Amino acid sequence: MRTQVAIIGAGPSGLLLGQLLYKAGIDNIIIERQGAQYVLGRIRAGVLEQVAVDLLDECGVGARMHREGLVHEGIELLFKGSRHRIDMHDLTGGKNVTVYGQTEVTHDLMDARKAEGLTTVYDVGDSVTLHDFDSANPRVRYVKDGLAHEIECDFIAGCDGYHGVSRASAPSSALRTYEKVYPFGWLGVLADVPPVSHELIYANTERGFALCSMRSHTRSRYYVQVPLTDHVEQWTDDAFWSELKLRLDPQARESLVTGPSIEKSIAPLRSFVAEPMRFGRLFLAGDAAHIVPPTGAKGLNLAATDVKYLSSALIEHYKDKSSAGIDHYSEKCLRRVWKAERFSWWFTSLMHKFPDTGEFGQKVQEAELDYLVGSRAASTALAENYVGLPL
Ligand code: APR
Ligand code: PHB
Repeated sequence: MRTQVAIIGAGPSGLLLGQLLYKAGIDNIIIERQGAQYVLGRIRAGVLEQVAVDLLDECGVGARMHREGLVHEGIELLFKGSRHRIDMHDLTGGKNVTVYGQTEVTHDLMDARKAEGLTTVYDVGDSVTLHDFDSANPRVRYVKDGLAHEIECDFIAGCDGYHGVSRASAPSSALRTYEKVYPFGWLGVLADVPPVSHELIYANTERGFALCSMRSHTRSRYYVQVPLTDHVEQWTDDAFWSELKLRLDPQARESLVTGPSIEKSIAPLRSFVAEPMRFGRLFLAGDAAHIVPPTGAKGLNLAATDVKYLSSALIEHYKDKSSAGIDHYSEKCLRRVWKAERFSWWFTSLMHKFPDTGEFGQKVQEAELDYLVGSRAASTALAENYVGLPL
């Protein structure tokens, strides 16, 4: 088999890249460890910056997002028992975010790929191996249904997430990684109940962080900070709703509608960056290269920008015979990645209770939040990072 770009991983990064390349007339094949239903079963943050919205439009899959996505012009910060609105629209000169689940984004991209008849090889397990990406003729091998296959290609795009084979295939002497693991997790519940507020609420409380988010007017996504030692089986729906209520302001507590969970899981929080993001003809994109803690929902947006830069670089290579985009890919991505890492780390640090926070730390967090909501300069800094820094 031969293709121009072999893409490893059918998450949002791989699917978006495949679609952008296809639209530019560049042939590609996606190879995915799991089945499509498994990929769609993963529940992740769903706040899209304009750059992600524009990319979905560019590859022709934006229609449902525009129909069903919720445009949010602000967020609420809850601390010391009161909510304070950050008017992102006003503070950023008219920018906003679109709340649309990552599952839906993945769904729309999968449907488009299927409709165009593009090849996605699912269920290859851990069989993928990458070869000769330091030469002009890289190859990808995998086993499907007991049969060994080889793809010859010009480039390999490693879009296979944090646990993928792509980053692991890079020469260790050329790879540098940076990591911070947080001493708590997020217990998340998805439920078919109307959201408690029409905007997202990020709460700092003495009991720990909480987040009220949503997928639609009838489906809510809530989180509470929990110790890493907690197991999801310990948390009944009732226990979850009680704990969430304790972390809300009186009005939200009163109006919160509870119901049976349709998904419940605990996710650890991590900051991680791998440098560089290119090794010869192998490129890393999305979670394969970097992870952010979910506070601020930057993960998917960073993946979208990587893919934007990578698709432009490859288009430039094929159309203009120029290697400038390819040569600058890693540096260009990492500049943006580190700014989002900084923001996600800061927002996480400000909103969560750490083992050493103590009474002093809690007071300092509250003072910073008070400053943040009272100062236009500080609010603007939050707002412009939240809606997404310019490309
Ligand atoms: N071979 C083939 N596919 C693999 C392999 C492998 N060895 N390892 C992992 N994969 C697949 C995974 O099964 C998954 O479907 O690669 C895909 C990677 O998808 P994601 O983890 O969703 O990563 P990405 O597409 O970069 O999306 C980034 O996801 O984690 C969120 O917050 C993050 O929103 C961001 C987005
Ligand atoms: C979510 O809806 O899952 C979500 C929203 C915002 C975040 C994190 C997660 O900051």
